[in-house]
Amino acid sequence: MEKKRFYITTPIYYPSDKLHIGHTYCTVATDVIARYKRLRGYDVMFLTGTDEHGQKIEDKAREAGVTPKAYVDNIVEGPGGVLDLWKLMNISNDRFIRTTDEYHVSAIQKIFRKMYDNGDIYKGTYKGKYCKPCESFWTESQLKDGCCPDCGRPVTDAEEEAYFFRLSKYADRIQDLLENTDFLEPRSRVNEMVNNFIKPGLEDLCVSRTSFTWGIPVDFDPKHVVYVWVDALSNYITALGYENDRYDDYESYWPGVNIVGKEIVRFHSIIWPAMLMSLGEPLPKKVFGHGWLLLDGGKMSKSKGNVVDPYILAERFGVDALRFFLMRTFPFGTDGNFSNELLIQTINTDLANDLGNLVSRTTAMVDKYFGGTLPSEQRADSAMDGELTAMAAGLRARYEEAMERYAPHKAIDEVFKVVQRANKYIDENMPWALAKNPEDQPRLACVLYNLLEATRVCGILLTPFMPASCEGLFTQIGAGADARSWDSAAVWGALPKAVTVSRGESLFPRVDMEKALEELERIQEETRRDALPALEIEPQLEEKVDFDTFCKSDFRAVKVKDCQRVKKSDKLLKFTLDDGTGIDRQILSGIAKWYAPEDLIGKTLVAIVNLPPRKMMGQESQGMLISAVHTEKGEECLNLLMVDDKIPAGAKLC
Ligand code: MSP
Repeated sequence: MEKKRFYITTPIYYPSDKLHIGHTYCTVATDVIARYKRLRGYDVMFLTGTDEHGQKIEDKAREAGVTPKAYVDNIVEGPGGVLDLWKLMNISNDRFIRTTDEYHVSAIQKIFRKMYDNGDIYKGTYKGKYCKPCESFWTESQLKDGCCPDCGRPVTDAEEEAYFFRLSKYADRIQDLLENTDFLEPRSRVNEMVNNFIKPGLEDLCVSRTSFTWGIPVDFDPKHVVYVWVDALSNYITALGYENDRYDDYESYWPGVNIVGKEIVRFHSIIWPAMLMSLGEPLPKKVFGHGWLLLDGGKMSKSKGNVVDPYILAERFGVDALRFFLMRTFPFGTDGNFSNELLIQTINTDLANDLGNLVSRTTAMVDKYFGGTLPSEQRADSAMDGELTAMAAGLRARYEEAMERYAPHKAIDEVFKVVQRANKYIDENMPWALAKNPEDQPRLACVLYNLLEATRVCGILLTPFMPASCEGLFTQIGAGADARSWDSAAVWGALPKAVTVSRGESLFPRVDMEKALEELERIQEETRRDALPALEIEPQLEEKVDFDTFCKSDFRAVKVKDCQRVKKSDKLLKFTLDDGTGIDRQILSGIAKWYAPEDLIGKTLVAIVNLPPRKMMGQESQGMLISAVHTEKGEECLNLLMVDDKIPAGAKLC
């Protein structure tokens, strides 16, 4: 039988800057839904990509002194760029579209012409208010306090010859679509669209620009470039092969589901369906407008300097822990406040305490009491077992119901109710007491089996959220391929009675909240410092230090006895130093990018030794090694200050 198909997309992101945790949130959520559908046996097409045209990108590239294409290439394909980020986050997209891809460019020209030929695009003059950062034109009545209603920034008067799309013609059909179908969710967004945009009167939309050139030219009037939203929205169909030969999947996968952030629901629920109506193509099955991750109650933005870097968090806490946190903590349709504390708390409570402990306690007991393999002879006790087995057996249905209505947070919640019930089941049944009585061996085996089974079902359903960790979980509890499938998640008893476990490393280590917060603060501070433009740093060089203050700094010659990389850190080296006192001094230094540890052993360096000790990656650093810093080809270079090896350890520098 042919598999049912499912097509899902993220917005295509602007590669104007590096992506942050907000973009990651949307992509992870979409990935979770795609993985869930695959788990259920669907033939899934999952698309993400980048929206590369428009004035904002043109301006950014000019500032950087490069061509727009070189600018976006770097952000998309360069180190630490969009592709790297999605790889790091274990995103399972099947396709990645860039709106500068040739096939997309020519398809957009055909789409524009098609709408022109059928009379939905006409030439006129545009007079309006333009918000440059949002690339949006607004009417006077749409402005909020005279500013852009989306981002609150000032708008400018703009007038130009332009092509217009007859959006007004589709107003009634769009209103009907929004009000009388479940095309747009959550439902709360429908009123917002109808009341703010449709009821005041939908005006025709300006769909070409002559004020800049970084866009797709209208092929029959090339001084115009196609409005970036017409270009961008069409990606959902061009990436399947609509109006191009690059792919041949349009018939198979369209229509699909568009997952978008709430600020671009307007484009997706009004302009996008109107364009499709004009083209005579089917409308998306659904547009889901998720909420924002806020920081200190406000939106994250590069210009506010308050963006959260997903790389730092994933490296420090693990990709799966970060994925889980994002989905567990913030109800998908509404806004939520991001904080590092909340992240660590979620890791410790749900992952380390509840799920991690369940796995490690259970496998440890199977090991301890039965040498790793349960005996087949097991004694059930319906009074003791009934609640857990019933809860676990019904879990898949409750989970499915939540996932189908795009409520992944609710689905996780259902899973964790079972995890918590299983932990309680351990306390109720006291395996350690059963172990004391040889007659209770079959009962003990049954208790442990039930725990493994409950864990298995939870593991299957958590796989879309934490794919790598759940693999590890299955290995530890001895679940083979058959016992990891969607079908088996609704079956109690898919593990063989005589299952063999293999204990492994802790799946979710506990995080020391205080240390981790300190560390994050330091890293964020460093990143902020790195990001400061040179001009803002310069005045600090001018600052004077009085002589007495300078004399208080204790610089010493130190000899490197040992030097090693610090685990899980790309930057830090750990030095054991002879400072002449006879007691080893440990200093951590962010120098790993420039030196191999073995090359430094035996060298004589300079350290300031009377700084207060400081913790880095959980280890104490008792001072700081002195380096010369300079910039080479835009990259920072550090050279440790080395002095003559004849100088004894502990010699004071003054
Ligand atoms: N290029 C357009 C989208 C075109 S789609 C045809 C765009 N790009 S964007 O880079 O600004 O990314 C917007 C999307 O990123 C949002 O819709 C949302 O999904 C996600 N987010 C960006 N910041 C976010 C938060 N702070 N919180 C949650 N999601 C956020 O708009």
